[in-house]
Amino acid sequence: MQSLFLIFTVFIAAITCNNTSYGQQSTPIDSEILFVRRIAPLLREKCLGCHGNNPQEIEGSLDVRSLAGLFAGGDSSEPSIVTGKPDKSPLYLAATRNSDDWSEMPPKEAEQLSAEQLTWLREWITSGAQWPSKPQQETIQKKFAEAWSLEDGIPVGTSGGLSPEWTDRKYDPAGLWAYQPVTKVAIKGTRNPIDVLIEQELPTGLTLAPRADRRTLIRRATFDLTGLPPLPQEVEAFVNDASRPFISFTPLRRANGTTLVGCRPLCRFIRFCE
Ligand code: HEC
Repeated sequence: MQSLFLIFTVFIAAITCNNTSYGQQSTPIDSEILFVRRIAPLLREKCLGCHGNNPQEIEGSLDVRSLAGLFAGGDSSEPSIVTGKPDKSPLYLAATRNSDDWSEMPPKEAEQLSAEQLTWLREWITSGAQWPSKPQQETIQKKFAEAWSLEDGIPVGTSGGLSPEWTDRKYDPAGLWAYQPVTKVAIKGTRNPIDVLIEQELPTGLTLAPRADRRTLIRRATFDLTGLPPLPQEVEAFVNDASRPFISFTPLRRANGTTLVGCRPLCRFIRFCE
């Protein structure tokens, strides 16, 4: 009987303990994490341009830089968020673009929120619309940085974008050609592999241009390499040479002794000759 009592006590303790940790971790903290991970970047990217970046010109008088600003609301004087109730929150309703009472936000259709972004907003409001302090945000960011980065993909150096979100965007390695292992493609026959590959991938409805004759080839190559048309004797020599264009092009020299190929990369030269 005593041991039965003990088991019962442990059982109750386990439930209580679970409940406590659930209570602490679930609602507020999930909402804080969601804020740092999704909501703050979303508001920055989609709303702050008109609702806070320039404090002198805040559209509709709605300041989205803080929770206090959201609760204060804009011209309507209605709080933009009703905690726990997205369907009563002007912020969410405006973003759904499907409300009789609130204008579509952001106003430009091209910038509308995706279904996923709307779900984040909804969840954030439902879970208590927590807005952690700056130091708390940094702690959360640090704590989850690695896990999020694994989920989001890898960063790739770029020449920059209009927003930090775009500049620092992450890529799924499976979608990046530079991360794919190099494979050797078997090309049958003696034709130039580039032609074969282009033919294989040619979209329906497109056909290859006819092969250029030698006169056209020498003109294209000379324009590309020197910016000028070929000399008449260069055209004659090239047209009357029976060897393959690539071979007959090599010895071509200008009157001043420079070769036509000069120091331009050989690949460009081959592209025009073959
Ligand atoms: C290009 C500028 C622009 C952007 C971007 C923008 N808004 Fe607005 N917003 C306005 C203007 C202008 C008004 C006031 C006129 C109106 O309500 O149509 C307004 C009003 C609002 C209001 C009504 C405030 C009130 O109490 O009257 C809400 C809510 C709102 N915006 C939410 C958002 C949200 C959320 C985003 C981002 C997802 C956003 N806006 C992005 C220009 C913008």
